Amino acid sequence: MRIAVLGGTGSFGRALARRLAEAGEQVVLGSRDPERAAEAAAELGVEGATNADACRGADLVVLATKADAALETARELGDAIGDTPVLSVAAELAFTPEGVVPAPDATSLAARVQDVVAAPVVAGLHSLAARNLGGDAAPEEDALVCGDDDGAKAMVLELAERITAGRAIDCGPLASARALEGLTAVIVNVNKRYKAHAGVRISGVR
Ligand SMILES: NC(=O)c1ccc[n+]([C@@H]2O[C@H](COP(=O)([O-])OP(=O)(O)OC[C@H]3O[C@@H](n4cnc5c(N)ncnc54)[C@H](OP(=O)(O)O)[C@@H]3O)[C@@H](O)[C@H]2O)c1
Repeated sequence: MRIAVLGGTGSFGRALARRLAEAGEQVVLGSRDPERAAEAAAELGVEGATNADACRGADLVVLATKADAALETARELGDAIGDTPVLSVAAELAFTPEGVVPAPDATSLAARVQDVVAAPVVAGLHSLAARNLGGDAAPEEDALVCGDDDGAKAMVLELAERITAGRAIDCGPLASARALEGLTAVIVNVNKRYKAHAGVRISGVR
């Protein structure tokens, strides 16, 4: 499968690209800047391109830009994305004196991305920290995924299963993305409180 990772020069995009390439997938690392894409891609032994070029011919587009650029990037690249399924991994966080909290929007970022692209949007992988995902071994963590389009969600679940040592778990419709995005704030607070690199395992599911 050919997978475009937009904003792939960041820590999460690189970590994901590494795991996907190890799993035998064809990865195109996207950036706003072709030279930055080429440099990061060369380090990982994958292809590099501008974000728009990366979308062309892709079977899946992963929106892995900085979270507050995800919506605008999706809007700008709507034509290039076309009907290729999109995976939104972004979580918007707000930093307060009390700790990190989910952004106050009532609607998830993934749902807002769905409003600006024609393709089906799946949300997932939020709880897989770049540091854990990009380590020497796949992390012992579950990948939580939600979406409304059964085919797109099945594709992402199948990929997610191969980039973690845990399981890929179907968490229901895209409306659940708000909870998955918010979970990121919980994990950041846990990491801070316990000086940890926390991930998520769901119990009771085989
Ligand atoms: N870091 C994690 O542990 C983690 C875990 C799970 C999910 N996520 C999600 O994954 C995404 C990427 O996280 P990250 O930590 O890798 O982020 P990041 O390093 O801050 O940013 C990723 C890339 O976004 C691009 N970018 C920055 N500003 C932009 C703009 N205004 N417009 C378009 N692109 C822009 C940059 O690529 P170019 O400058 O090369 O274009 C940058 O390398 C986020 O949405 C985050 O919520 C992160």
